Amino acid sequence: MSVEALRSEDLRKIYTQRGAPPVTALAGVSLNVHRGERVALLGRNGAGKTTFLKIASTLLRPTSGTIEVFGHDVGRAPEKARPYIAVVPQEGKPFFHLTPREQVYTYLRARGLGREVARSRTEESLERMGLTEFADRLAITLSGGQRQRTMVATVIATEAPLLFLDEPSIGMDPFARRDVWESLRNLTRRGSTILLTTHYLDEAEALSDRLYIIERGEVLVTGTSEDLKRSVGGTLKVSLAGGARVVESFRSFGSCVADGEHLTVIVAPERLGELMELAVRSHLTATVGPVTLEEAFLRVVGRSINED
Ligand SMILES: Nc1ncnc2c1ncn2[C@@H]1O[C@H](COP(=O)(O)OP(=O)(O)O)[C@@H](O)[C@H]1O
Ligand SMILES: [Mg+2]
Repeated sequence: MSVEALRSEDLRKIYTQRGAPPVTALAGVSLNVHRGERVALLGRNGAGKTTFLKIASTLLRPTSGTIEVFGHDVGRAPEKARPYIAVVPQEGKPFFHLTPREQVYTYLRARGLGREVARSRTEESLERMGLTEFADRLAITLSGGQRQRTMVATVIATEAPLLFLDEPSIGMDPFARRDVWESLRNLTRRGSTILLTTHYLDEAEALSDRLYIIERGEVLVTGTSEDLKRSVGGTLKVSLAGGARVVESFRSFGSCVADGEHLTVIVAPERLGELMELAVRSHLTATVGPVTLEEAFLRVVGRSINED
């Protein structure tokens, strides 16, 4: 049986600082990423995503619990785990006095790749990330989005077995984001495994095979984005202009949200026909669309916040 690309078991991290109360960033996270999967970690600011990725990438020690990369215990044998991984850290910056071409190439050489392979991978990844035009400019002269593309280009060029990307597409334009998606899909086609965080839920939906929502240092839910949408009552969203006054008659179809006179019902596809009949009988105009992952996320995390 082949081992998981990543497996954590009851991982905890408590930050302690003199003169400040301890902060529990991870309160027992158990998760796994299968080989070849693209998994997204979602969660509000401060949920613990970056802490998890720092521990997984050997940059920080956990307070307790274990985490393994391809079967190697990251805490006990970080030097064994490191060759398997490459990281785009949150708020990482390229070396200001190197050009993107120099940075990517130098990094690959430092990881032990030969000249020829490093050269061809550098060109390929600069091209994939739309950096050809800027490849010979010092990073200090690049825009924020171009710098971020340089960081992603550096890491995808490694073709490492396991890539960690902490908000990789932050500050990128919609075209550049799609370049990232395509590059990451291409990497998993070649056998890599990817764990990323993002606040762009369209990105999580477009990119991830599976996702975990982290809330206050714990796994709140896991599944596919379709699972998550079903868990809030359906995969379709029906907007009913003027429907708020008859909200009671729609409650049995799924989760209802009244906003002024407007009513939104989240419904399973099997019950759409029945709902539409009721809308017609009630003289309401209905617009049907897909539930977005963002709506499901807001509901699932919102419910958890309200429970406290
Ligand atoms: N070095 C640190 N010292 C103390 N607290 C920290 C430190 N780094 C992060 N934290 C706290 O740990 C929690 C989780 O942070 P983080 O992992 O960065 O969350 P996320 O990436 O999900 O936004 C937050 O409450 C944050 O303030
Ligand atoms: Mg973070």
